[in-house]
Amino acid sequence: MSAVEKMGKALVTGASSGIGATYADRLAQRGHDLVLVARDEKRLAGLAAKLSAQYGVAVDVLKADLTQREDVRVVEKRLREDGAIELLVNNAGIGPKGPLLADDIDYLEAMIELNVVAVNRLAIAAAQVFAARGKGAIINIASVVALVPERFNGTYNASKAFVLNLTQSINAEVSGKGVKVQAMLPGLTRTEIFDRAGGSIDHLDPSMVMDVTDLVDAALAGFDQGELITIPSLPDAADWDTFVKARLVLAPNLSHDRPAGRYGVERKAAAI
Ligand SMILES: NC(=O)c1ccc[n+]([C@@H]2O[C@H](COP(=O)([O-])OP(=O)(O)OC[C@H]3O[C@@H](n4cnc5c(N)ncnc54)[C@H](OP(=O)(O)O)[C@@H]3O)[C@@H](O)[C@H]2O)c1
Repeated sequence: MSAVEKMGKALVTGASSGIGATYADRLAQRGHDLVLVARDEKRLAGLAAKLSAQYGVAVDVLKADLTQREDVRVVEKRLREDGAIELLVNNAGIGPKGPLLADDIDYLEAMIELNVVAVNRLAIAAAQVFAARGKGAIINIASVVALVPERFNGTYNASKAFVLNLTQSINAEVSGKGVKVQAMLPGLTRTEIFDRAGGSIDHLDPSMVMDVTDLVDAALAGFDQGELITIPSLPDAADWDTFVKARLVLAPNLSHDRPAGRYGVERKAAAI
């Protein structure tokens, strides 16, 4: 795709740093006009000026604190009313400060507002408008911790499992309606997220930490290939397919009119 060919406009949340800023760069390079969303307006304006000068695309800045529901509604309004927007990158998120037993519940609730409530509202709004127009795409940034909740910190894992599950459900609903959907599951990635939560990526095993540009380039390649779920680190995509098939083995037995025999309830219920 030529860098000068015009693509649909993309709205990227959490575009002021890390994964979101890298998506903004790569999408501008592909010729997408952009709407950049985050709290740090100065940083967004700097990125907007750089990208429009470098790639000749139009870049708007929309300041929003996505833990605040009125700000989320402003972004939702933009998604619904700007008919040029064809791609949502639902990326803004914060990480945990530590294990649940030591964490601050107010911070974790703010995390749910950002990682779940805002992501949910924007993804559904985008799905609704894109399905009505018969065109558009949604990229939701989850995390591999959605798949290994035993190995990371509670509310964060759960928030990312929500994003993964939501993406799979939206995909089933928009099937055949011209809307492309992807959940992207980064592993550890070199961004500011750890410093922001009071930690440091330097304490982590470097063999497990990916460069953010490699991550986003791989994620966009997965998007181009039409993957619903993209795990940039995973060497063999067949492992994901095996996992999904194993999960769906449960499906025929997840809802019956009586409890399983091992609970010994069947006979008692019949006696009432
Ligand atoms: N880095 C990793 O290892 C990793 C792994 C798996 C998943 N992820 C996910 O990737 C996404 C991006 O994270 P990142 O690693 O790129 O982290 P980052 O560098 O800290 O970037 C986070 C972005 O979210 C924005 N943000 C934070 N709080 C916000 C709020 N209240 N309202 C609006 N925007 C807010 C920040 O901008 P402002 O501060 O300007 O608002 C920033 O642009 C997150 O969803 C994260 O959970 C990251």
